[in-house]
Amino acid sequence: MTLRRKRTAILISGRGSNMRALIERARDPSYPAEIVLVLSSRPDATGLAFAKENGVASSVVDHKIYAGREEFERSMQVLLELHRIELICLAGFMRMLTPWFISQWPGRLLNIHPALLPAYRGLDTHARALADGVRIHGCTVHFVVPAMDEGPIIAQAAVAVLDSDTPASLAARVLAEEHAIYPAALACVAEGHLRVEGNRVFTREPATELVPLRVPFKGRKASRRRIGG
Ligand code: GAR
Repeated sequence: MTLRRKRTAILISGRGSNMRALIERARDPSYPAEIVLVLSSRPDATGLAFAKENGVASSVVDHKIYAGREEFERSMQVLLELHRIELICLAGFMRMLTPWFISQWPGRLLNIHPALLPAYRGLDTHARALADGVRIHGCTVHFVVPAMDEGPIIAQAAVAVLDSDTPASLAARVLAEEHAIYPAALACVAEGHLRVEGNRVFTREPATELVPLRVPFKGRKASRRRIGG
């Protein structure tokens, strides 16, 4: 049986390195999601160039030209419907979404956050983690709900904090993990392998081997379970 690939949009505001990881992973025709649209909330987002060079349709919905959040979101919604989008990945999309927009995409709107939620919601996650002296930091892919950086967790990856770390060095190692878990998490959602109960996300049979968990501690033999995607 051939799987119909889920039509997926990526929403960005800047660099777009997670967008790039998703586009590159989805080049494989057996990957269950197809990236068909990139929307940027900013005209100067550098990620737009990669989308164009790679033949992915892209549009700017410049949040600054709209009177309010709902008008901005209604424009995005029109484009998403026009492209018959089924799943959305927020990838460094730095606008808060309204409950109206989120309610249009139940179980179909994913976000990546550079921390092990529920720790370090919001901004400057790496500097705050270092200031707190945590030894383990990481990133999270979750379903979006109206409360910021909350919602059922699909995948997480942990990185060890090193004595030599600065916010920039820690961010770089976390970002490498983001690029691994986001395509894995999107694959699980696109394949319909997940079931959500309250805040918990369960993996349905027969996809248990696809649990997107990575724990690549440095200095020991890496302990990794196979990830999806
Ligand atoms: C990523 O680290 C992502 O986790 C973060 O912004 C960066 C975007 O980088 N997102 C958030 O902080 C959202 N709360 P990218 O544009 O290179 O993917």
